[in-house]
Amino acid sequence: MDWGLENRIRRMFPVASGNSVMLAVDHGYFMGPTRRLENAKATIAPLLPYADALALTRGILRSSVPPSATTPVVLRVSGGATILKEDLSHEEVTTGIRDALRLNVSAVALSVFVGSPHEHESLVHLSKLVDDGEEFGMPVLAITAVGKELEKRDARYLALACRVSAELGAHLVKTYYCDNFEKVVEGCPVPIVVAGGPKLDSEKAAMELAHDAIAAGAHGIDMGRNIWQSDHPVAMLRSLRAIVHERATVKEALAVHDEAVRRAEALPAISPSRRA
Ligand code: R5P
Repeated sequence: MDWGLENRIRRMFPVASGNSVMLAVDHGYFMGPTRRLENAKATIAPLLPYADALALTRGILRSSVPPSATTPVVLRVSGGATILKEDLSHEEVTTGIRDALRLNVSAVALSVFVGSPHEHESLVHLSKLVDDGEEFGMPVLAITAVGKELEKRDARYLALACRVSAELGAHLVKTYYCDNFEKVVEGCPVPIVVAGGPKLDSEKAAMELAHDAIAAGAHGIDMGRNIWQSDHPVAMLRSLRAIVHERATVKEALAVHDEAVRRAEALPAISPSRRA
């Protein structure tokens, strides 16, 4: 692997655990102003210090993240469909490699839609993006999207989608957690990070998902809604860091969460002069 490409990857995995906690805030590219991401700048700001990487589009990067930020960026470069259409797989590469380089990002990401009407196009787009990535030292993260068919999240399907992505040259893969996830990991020769999917019933359920994914061999998470749609996003992100980097149990992660909530709630009682 060339130095620049490896350097970009390593920046996204900065902790000795070898894993990464990526914060996903790219949902607006097809969902519009999603709940609690309406004002992306306000959602991102308090979470940024706790993320190893930030996954988003160029529009939100330029408008809502200060250029002084040092957090590595995973730039979504595919799009072209919205939730108003039945077929979400009708995507193109919407951001060129030159703009990714101009934005000094650490990776580019695009969705592949295995088994969907535009499977072929999305896989060809991935292959071409990898050609560009190899030429310019830019890692490519393939996102094994399932569109609206959430029931596709089983080991047989996801193992196929992840393996195909890796075979076409993706350097990293983002997929969903599922039962028998170790089968997905086993068949994929590049690191996998897991998405959270729609908000689960509780913080504990999201922690369990992250815990089980790491235990099964995932190299981290690339999670959005279960963090910033939670009532305590910073506490949630900190508890996930404990799981991903310190292999905390769910019970330990819950304690990290509750302690962070307690501390945050105690803050308003402190006078501004004491806080300074
Ligand atoms: C889809 O919009 C993106 O790939 C998300 O970044 C991915 O699904 C992770 O976000 P969440 O944890 O909310 O599913």
